Amino acid sequence: MHDALRVIALTAGKGGVGKTTLAINLAVAYAKQNKKVLLFDADLGLANIDVLLGIRAKRNISHVLAGESSLAEVCITGPEGITIIPAASGVQKMAELNMHESRALIHAFSELAEQVDILIVDTAAGISSQVLSFANASQDIVVVVCNDPASIADSYALIKLLHQRFTTQRFGVVANKVNSMEEGQFVFNKLQKISEQFMSLNLHYLGCVPKDDYVSLAARHQRALLEEFPGATAAQAVLSLRTQITQWEQDDTSRGSIAFFLERFIQPNREASECAG
Ligand SMILES: Nc1ncnc2c1ncn2[C@@H]1O[C@H](COP(=O)(O)OP(=O)(O)O)[C@@H](O)[C@H]1O
Ligand SMILES: [Mg+2]
Repeated sequence: MHDALRVIALTAGKGGVGKTTLAINLAVAYAKQNKKVLLFDADLGLANIDVLLGIRAKRNISHVLAGESSLAEVCITGPEGITIIPAASGVQKMAELNMHESRALIHAFSELAEQVDILIVDTAAGISSQVLSFANASQDIVVVVCNDPASIADSYALIKLLHQRFTTQRFGVVANKVNSMEEGQFVFNKLQKISEQFMSLNLHYLGCVPKDDYVSLAARHQRALLEEFPGATAAQAVLSLRTQITQWEQDDTSRGSIAFFLERFIQPNREASECAG
């Protein structure tokens, strides 16, 4: 038996803020602590996890949904031994599974999850139903935000929607690509101020990651920053981020199972399909 599974969803109001980069390196950071990490690529953007790491996925989640592969067959081993479930068009379909498919998926995940300590989900940017489902199913929603008005506004819109639809109270915020600690705090304060003003919501500041040229250099090498340039300031910041997330107080320990994650993930869609008759 291991400790309860922790599910961390990385989300962002808009693309390009560094969500996938942070998801990969956070996964590697946890793996460095001998945690068994599952990294689920639920973002269908251009720079998918497999692209950033130079891994070619032959199979993906759509093969699991079609009953052609087990989840284990779809998984790829990444840096530091992390397990990656690659992105696929099937991910979009995950937000609209029928009962049979849902059960098959829960079963597939349950088998895999027995050995997993941390599940990190790289969700797509924005507020699609798929993003909302993933976020709602996760214990820890980490919003990645940059110091630009669109990123802050879109992050606020995402937080607001999750709060209104699922009464989510628990949001962690990471400021990425900042030029200073002060800038990170400034971005957080802006987001916190409007969240408090309009929703009486207290966000949790997890810290910031500096703008660092080694990030794009590692990407060009198709390697995780933490492996390629472990001494880079952004790499060090990811390690502090890991510490901050670990220390982020757990207010609901009942949520630590993969079945719980998937049931929560699938639930809103069941309701939707019931409504649709
Ligand atoms: N801390 C950082 N410093 C410098 N560049 C960064 C940093 N984080 C991300 N980037 C760069 O920003 C771009 C978008 O990153 P990515 O992780 O693909 O974002 P997203 O998944 O949010 O769309 C990439 O070119 C990446 O190398
Ligand atoms: Mg991405």
